[in-house]
Amino acid sequence: MDWGMQNRLSSLFQKDGHCFFLPIDHGYFQGPTHCLEKPGETIKPLLNYCDALFVTRGVLRSCVDPIDSKPIILRVSGGTSMAGKDLANEILTTSIEEIIRLNVSAVGISVFIGSDYEKQTLKNLSKLVNKCENYGIPVMAVTAVGKEMEKREARYLALCCRIAAELGARVVKTYWCDKDFDKVVKGCPVPVVMAGGPKCETEKEVFEFVYDGMQNGSVGINLGRNVWQSPQPVAVAKALYAIIHKKADVKRAQEIFNEVVSSK
Ligand code: 5RP
Repeated sequence: MDWGMQNRLSSLFQKDGHCFFLPIDHGYFQGPTHCLEKPGETIKPLLNYCDALFVTRGVLRSCVDPIDSKPIILRVSGGTSMAGKDLANEILTTSIEEIIRLNVSAVGISVFIGSDYEKQTLKNLSKLVNKCENYGIPVMAVTAVGKEMEKREARYLALCCRIAAELGARVVKTYWCDKDFDKVVKGCPVPVVMAGGPKCETEKEVFEFVYDGMQNGSVGINLGRNVWQSPQPVAVAKALYAIIHKKADVKRAQEIFNEVVSSK
């Protein structure tokens, strides 16, 4: 592997091979998402626990300090909104020059497999991989989002992850599922990272699915709303960090969560 590619990937994945990415890109189609109205404020207390931020160039420039920054995964697909006809109708929003100028560690792009825009979004991914590989920049494919999320079962997720990897994604982000998640991971030749989805009712549910996903081969998380929409975001982040990087189980994660909450 080229030095630049390896260097960037190693800034995202820690020595244990695991990662905790913190996505704050939701505004690119949802506008000012609850608890992410001021992204710079939201991330401040969480930066100690995450390994990278997933963010658009607009929020990166206006809300993230370039000095001493966490590694950046730049969201480079978009062009649709909650108010529009179909979230899947995405384009590539960011040029390779901009990607290089922002000195990012990776880029992220959504693909909508099974949607009317399957081919278009897979074409976006292929084009992006072609450009980014020239400069040693890894591409993370974001699968099974939007309406497609309703099909959250292993067969569909495995299909999405494998296709994204076949087209050249270096990392694939997908959803955890309660049955056969190991098959999703095993069928994908590149690391699989779990997204969170809408906020769960309890923190314990989050710890449970993250722990289960890690036991079944995922290398980490790209988890947003279940962290920063929690009334206790720091406690959640610290507990998740322990599952990802310190081999904590659900019981230990819950203890860490309780300790942080009661120390306030
Ligand atoms: C939106 C994304 C988000 O990064 C992703 O959904 C993860 O965030 P959350 O854990 O809140 O679902 O890619 O398309």
